[in-house]
Amino acid sequence: MKKTWRWTAPLCLVLAMPGCGGGSGEGLDANGRPIGEGANPSGPLLPTYASIQSHVFTPICSACHAGGSAPEGLRLDAANAYALTVNVSSVEVPSMKRIAPGNPDQSYLVQKIEGHASVGARMPYGGPYLDDATIATIRLWISQGAVQ
Ligand code: HEC
Repeated sequence: MKKTWRWTAPLCLVLAMPGCGGGSGEGLDANGRPIGEGANPSGPLLPTYASIQSHVFTPICSACHAGGSAPEGLRLDAANAYALTVNVSSVEVPSMKRIAPGNPDQSYLVQKIEGHASVGARMPYGGPYLDDATIATIRLWISQGAVQ
């Protein structure tokens, strides 16, 4: 009995998270990640991609940055945001990446939300702008490598 338990418990954690029920989708957030990784919009904002997506990009930015008419082709909905930001050149300032992993100061998206980009307006366009704590958390995520 003890032997069986020792084998199944870790396997359950590794293979069948979340829920150990297998494939029902229960316990997953909108990005298909286990709830509890910081993706839950009712929880605190954390310096992870999932959390920033669910707290900022999806509810605030994708109001404009979605679909075929997204400004500068930048779609920030959950299906597209990572692939269209990290290591992708800005349209307004093509010499800069929208997000340069490890380097928030050289990330054009950071300049846009801080309001000192050399082209165009501060984001979110027309405000209200992100608070300092939110911007600091996005900077921290980028500093730590902008991992997906
Ligand atoms: C009300 C509409 C609106 C919202 C909301 C909005 N944007 Fe924008 N965004 C624009 C427009 C319009 C432009 C192009 C004109 C400009 O830069 O001023 C733009 C341009 C950008 C660019 C430049 C893209 C490039 O490739 O050069 C970035 C980066 C950006 N937005 C990020 C964001 C982020 C991050 C948010 C959310 C925090 C956001 N925007 C929210 C309308 C919006």
